[in-house]
Amino acid sequence: MQVIQNCAVIGAGTMGSGIAQVAASAGLPVTMIDASADALGRGMQRIQDSLARLVKKGTLKPEDAEAITKRIKPSPELSEAGGADLVIEAIFEDEAVKRATWEKLNAACRADAIFASNTSSISISRLAAAVANPERFIGMHFFNPVPVMKLIEVIRGNRTSPEACATVVELSKRLGKNADRGQRLPRLHLHRVLMPLINEAIFAVYEGVAKPEAIDEIFKLGMAHPMGPLTLADFIGLDVCLNIMEVLQRGFRRSQVPPLSAAAPDGRLR
Ligand SMILES: NC(=O)c1ccc[n+]([C@@H]2O[C@H](COP(=O)([O-])OP(=O)(O)OC[C@H]3O[C@@H](n4cnc5c(N)ncnc54)[C@H](O)[C@@H]3O)[C@@H](O)[C@H]2O)c1
Repeated sequence: MQVIQNCAVIGAGTMGSGIAQVAASAGLPVTMIDASADALGRGMQRIQDSLARLVKKGTLKPEDAEAITKRIKPSPELSEAGGADLVIEAIFEDEAVKRATWEKLNAACRADAIFASNTSSISISRLAAAVANPERFIGMHFFNPVPVMKLIEVIRGNRTSPEACATVVELSKRLGKNADRGQRLPRLHLHRVLMPLINEAIFAVYEGVAKPEAIDEIFKLGMAHPMGPLTLADFIGLDVCLNIMEVLQRGFRRSQVPPLSAAAPDGRLR
C-alpha cells in the first residue's frame, strides 16, 4: 500500500472544490485544476466560504482556515498534476470528455500515480482503458456536500489492483470518511437504488400526480427523510441525475427517463 502525500483534483466545481477542501483539511498539498478560470475562482471562493462558516461556528481556528486555503494551489494547466501521488477527477459526467482528459493526464503524470474518478455512473473499467496502468485506476465516489458527507464509495474496475484499493481506502479514512467498497455499475451502487426513486418522483410531477412540494413533504413526514427526492435531485443537479439514469437505463433496460428531467425550463424542479 502506498501512503498518499499530495494530490491533484481535476475540476473545481461542486465536487472538485469540496474534495480539494477535505484533502487540504487533512494536511495534503492539493493542486486544483480546472479548464475554466471562472470555475477556478468560484471553486476557491466556495472553499473560503465553507471554511469561514466553520470558523464562525467555532469548529475551526482562523489560522487553520488560512493554512488549509494556502495548501490549495489553483491552476488551469492539466500538466500541473504531473507530480501528484493521487489524481482525483471530478469534471463533467461525460464519458468522452473524461476519457480525453484521462489520456492527457496519463501522459502528464508519474507512472506510479493512482488515478481516481468521482464519476457517478460511468464504468470505471471503461475509463481505465484510457490510461497505461488500469490496475492503478479506481473510482472514488464522494457525496455532496463533500466536507459534510461521511461516505466515499470506492469502486474497483476489472483490473484495479488490491494495492490501489487499499491505498484509497486508507486515504479515505484520513479524510475522515467511511470507505464503502462498492461494486461497478450497473450492480450494487447507491445510485441504482436512489435514481429510480428520483426518476419516479419526476414522473409523478410530469404526469400531474402531485406538485413537487407535496411529493417532498411525503418523504419528509412519512419517511423521516431530511429532504424529499425532488429537492435532492435539484441538489445533485438534474443534468447529473439525467446522465446517471441514462447509464442505468442502458445497463438494466427497464427504466424510462421522463422528458421533464431534460426539459425543466430553468434546470430545476422547485
Ligand atoms: N453533484 C453531485 O452531487 C455529485 C455527487 C457525486 C459525484 N458527482 C460527479 O462528480 C463529477 C463532477 O460533478 P460536479 O457536480 O462537481 O460538476 P460541476 O459542473 O459543478 O463541475 C465540473 C467542473 O469540471 C470542469 N471541467 C469540465 N471539463 C474539464 C476538463 N476537460 N478539464 C478540466 N476541467 C474541466 C468544469 O469547468 C467545471 O468547473 C461528475 O462526474 C459527477 O457525476 C457529482
